[in-house]
Amino acid sequence: MKETKRLLISREDIARRVKELAAQISQDYRGKEPVLVGILKGAFIFLADLVRALDFPVEIDFVRLMSYGDGTTSSGEVRVTKDVELPLEGRHVLVVEDIVDIGYTLYFLRQHLAGRNPLSLKFCCLIDKKERRAVNVPLDYVGFVVEKGFLVGYGLDCAEKMRTLPDVYELVD
Ligand code: IMP
Ligand code: MG
Repeated sequence: MKETKRLLISREDIARRVKELAAQISQDYRGKEPVLVGILKGAFIFLADLVRALDFPVEIDFVRLMSYGDGTTSSGEVRVTKDVELPLEGRHVLVVEDIVDIGYTLYFLRQHLAGRNPLSLKFCCLIDKKERRAVNVPLDYVGFVVEKGFLVGYGLDCAEKMRTLPDVYELVD
């Protein structure tokens, strides 16, 4: 496991960007009573900050998906280990994710949630990590774009470690 970490996105930059995203989302969804679906576990900190920056009411639910083992590469197989519980039929649904890498997770979730007949289905992620993207998933709201690297902090973990760091770091050799 890589031992050293390098500060990539500071808590101040995150806070600023979360406010901007929240303003954009407020403009697009005000009056629509959307359901925000956070993907556990990585998105819980981002979602918590995001919803408190919105100036209109939303409903919140969570889904838990497993795709990674203990390391830093994807198994390619995505499983639902905790499904959404609110009815989504006829609702505006906004999925909130921490980071999009290869794209398998959101690709899978898109099909999965589309089956619930939402009125609309959009995706918001804090970090769009470009280099390894293998499947195309439309991202409607993106906090930061990074090219590559394994990132930790602000909800992102490496084998359950470093999730609670307030800033985002890149693990380096
Ligand atoms: P994808 O299916 O490859 O797009 O993987 C997305 C999921 O992998 C995210 O929800 C994260 O949980 C995890 N992931 C991808 N890249 C990173 C990273 O750099 N740090 C921590 N988790 C990551
Ligand atoms: Mg995740």
